Amino acid sequence: MRKILIYGGTTIVLILLAALLFIQVKGIPSYPVEKPPITLNTDSASLARGKKLASMLCASCHLNPDTRQLTGRPMVDAPKEFGEIHAPNITQHKTYGIGDWTEGEILFLLRTGIKRDGKYAPPYMAKLPLMADQDINAIIAFLKSNDRMVAAADIPDQPAKPSFLTKALTNTVFKPFPMPTAPIPMPDTSNAIELGGYLAKNLECFSCHSADFKSNDFLVPEHSEGYFGGGNKPLNEEGQVMPTPNLTPDKVTGIGNWSEEKFVKALKSGIKEGEPALRYPMKPYTELTDKEAAAIYKYLMSIPPISNKVERSPE
Ligand code: HEC
Ligand code: HEC
Repeated sequence: MRKILIYGGTTIVLILLAALLFIQVKGIPSYPVEKPPITLNTDSASLARGKKLASMLCASCHLNPDTRQLTGRPMVDAPKEFGEIHAPNITQHKTYGIGDWTEGEILFLLRTGIKRDGKYAPPYMAKLPLMADQDINAIIAFLKSNDRMVAAADIPDQPAKPSFLTKALTNTVFKPFPMPTAPIPMPDTSNAIELGGYLAKNLECFSCHSADFKSNDFLVPEHSEGYFGGGNKPLNEEGQVMPTPNLTPDKVTGIGNWSEEKFVKALKSGIKEGEPALRYPMKPYTELTDKEAAAIYKYLMSIPPISNKVERSPE
């Protein structure tokens, strides 16, 4: 009996060790690559829309404050347990940037999280599984445009050193998203709640303002734990935790008593009356029109309230 237990125990330990070694050696997993067809609209309205979306969604990681281009930067604000992470150069440089990526390869990455070499881009790289085709195409048209932000820059990437945890998570819980099988239309902009919901999901407000990055659901954001109830713990540039406020209409712990005007001002300028300004990683969304910001407010007022008191970080 004892012998069996010892053998059994040793076998389990050996299997575990083998699994750990396998993950360490295998690293980040690879998947088959597709090159979906794509037709870009490069008129000035599309390029402006693409620049606006990229400024709100991609610049937070890929914009380098020194070059003021999308040449990438070390992500000091990513949790240390993910390893050493660098957002790469995504300007049009053919060697260091993404100048030789096809439009379909960029689309496939942004939808699914699979890079053109088949490797999965870890969870900290944004994915846009729900964005309207017209908007995602506008972002790609902008990346391929002659805007200064994306002009070929001769700056090599710093190699990333993903941690064992990142390797383990990408081999287990984090999987690529499926390529959409039907067209995704733009929201009806005359319906404020629909427009606001589209923006609140696609600008990834919910990803920071729900309970935890690990329990977010990017395919059905409403299924994220504590959807918009706050309490998630993103980091600032010094690596300090900045708890996210509750944005549900709960009158005591959420923003149920906020006026639309107060919300639009806080969102677009970071100014909160009678209190210190909102700090990183909450950046002022200056690119949003008042109508878009107000639509997000109306959407948030329409979702179920969650009672969850979140203390603001003191400094
Ligand atoms: C939260 C930070 C973050 C955001 C936001 C982000 N990225 Fe990334 N991106 C990364 C990181 C980190 C990588 C490297 C992933 C890896 O190591 O596989 C990456 C990789 C990429 C790559 C692959 C480049 C290469 O050379 O392999 C492209 C293209 C890209 N991002 C485009 C975008 C676009 C477009 C957006 C906006 C829609 C965006 N990213 C938003 C962090 C981010
Ligand atoms: C990267 C994470 C992150 C993203 C993305 C983000 N926020 Fe925030 N947000 C925060 C943090 C952290 C704070 C608190 C900042 C502080 O304490 O100074 C905050 C504060 C706020 C506040 C102030 C609420 C209050 O009670 O003081 C509002 C309103 C807000 N965010 C709305 C939004 C909207 C709308 C979006 C999407 C367009 C968004 N946020 C995207 C992290 C984020």
